[in-house]
Amino acid sequence: MFLDMDGIGPQYAQLTRALKGAILDGRMAAGTRLPATRELAQQLEVSRTTVLAAYEQLRAEGFINGRVGSGSFVSHLQLAPSPQPAVSTTAPPASRYAERARKLRNRGIGGMHAGLRYDLLYGDPVTNPALNAAWGRELARAAAYSSLKVTGSWGLLALRQQICDYLARRRGVHALPENLLIVTGTQQAYALCARVLLDEGDVVALEDPHYFGSCHVLAAHGARLHPVRTDDDGLVCAELPDAPPKLISVTPSHQFPTGRVMSLPRRLELLRYAADRPCWIVEDDYDGELRYDGHPLAALRSLDESDRVIYVGTFSKTLFGALRMGYMVLPAALRDDFNAAKYLSDMSSPGIEQAALAHFMECGGFERHLRHARRELKARREALIASLQHHAGERVQVVHSPAGMHVTAWLNGYDHARAEALVAYAHDRGLGLHPIAPHYFTPPARPGLLLGYCNLSAAELREAMRLFGECLDAVPAGTG
Ligand SMILES: Cc1ncc(COP(=O)(O)O)c(C=O)c1O
Repeated sequence: MFLDMDGIGPQYAQLTRALKGAILDGRMAAGTRLPATRELAQQLEVSRTTVLAAYEQLRAEGFINGRVGSGSFVSHLQLAPSPQPAVSTTAPPASRYAERARKLRNRGIGGMHAGLRYDLLYGDPVTNPALNAAWGRELARAAAYSSLKVTGSWGLLALRQQICDYLARRRGVHALPENLLIVTGTQQAYALCARVLLDEGDVVALEDPHYFGSCHVLAAHGARLHPVRTDDDGLVCAELPDAPPKLISVTPSHQFPTGRVMSLPRRLELLRYAADRPCWIVEDDYDGELRYDGHPLAALRSLDESDRVIYVGTFSKTLFGALRMGYMVLPAALRDDFNAAKYLSDMSSPGIEQAALAHFMECGGFERHLRHARRELKARREALIASLQHHAGERVQVVHSPAGMHVTAWLNGYDHARAEALVAYAHDRGLGLHPIAPHYFTPPARPGLLLGYCNLSAAELREAMRLFGECLDAVPAGTG
């Protein structure tokens, strides 16, 4: 008899698997006597103990019966009949959602490129070893002292209270803890908006350019996207569709990715548009607190007298993305529906992390870190802009926006093809540049770059801009 030992794990387990296989596929029929242990051990060049252990295991699992000494026999097993061929062997297709999600997943900003000396990719917030250490302590404390019960779908009350205080102080938003829902980041907030507010084919108006994350969630859900142009004042409200969209998604405090701030007249116009129509606004306030020229601007929600703005905040930029923690301030009319959708989605956000964050905010650690992050980001931003202007001069136009974690720079005199050549050239020299064009539905008239400055120190940013200047020299505008 040929027994195929697969070489994985202890020998007795390999032999057990090999014998089981032979019994199950019928090579060893019911009633067959197994070889004597000594004989099989010799044949397989294993110890007799190995064979004894395998037989013992098979006996315990009911594959064989009999005793050592009197012989072991294959049991009479009711083996499942081999499956009849189905009428069709094709598995049912995945949902339309899955099909759309799969197509959308790979569309977007590229990831970090390995092997580059300087990558100006936008995304992760500034790293701070003191934050790592403090967070470790908070987590250990929360794990030791908090209840291990699920927190309830609204989220931990202590955290909601902390966030309400913070929003009132820093964002001008007056929210009650009962209208504040803890979610796992902006991404889940948009997924809940889609579930609660949209049926397939409903229209969503969103800024052009836009942020992929939220846009893809809405599109995967089956929303029809209606891009609306942005200018220096933000979303051009006059170009909102005549038939009102169900939802308008905006980033008023820091338009993503251009960095512009929505002007007060535009804010009021947008709020009036929504108040006069059956329409909700989602305010994505992803980095509103990261301003470097004084106090952060109040959020759109703070002006909303008709209770039409769903405010979304996140800790992904102020702390770190791996936390997956955000929150929504909900209009009163929507609170129960969102709560139900959150419950059905994942019951509740992780409780230990919520308890840790509540304490971190209560004891001042969060605001301390924010002050550090603002100082650090301001210094990097200034280093980037000063050396960009020094090395690139008139060849770029920097969008003035003293906020956030990236700078938008338009390339003067370049067309899109030439800008692509510049990006490719820079890449070959170890400098990662990221065009702004993929964020647009309608490509902008001239090419631009989104320069993220969180991954590099001020000194590295200066060096990166020197290299950028060399790339502009080597691939100048206007020549093919
Ligand atoms: C416009 C915008 N909104 C939200 C986020 C953060 O999303 P999340 O809270 O899901 O991490 C980002 C992150 O890059 C962003 O650029």
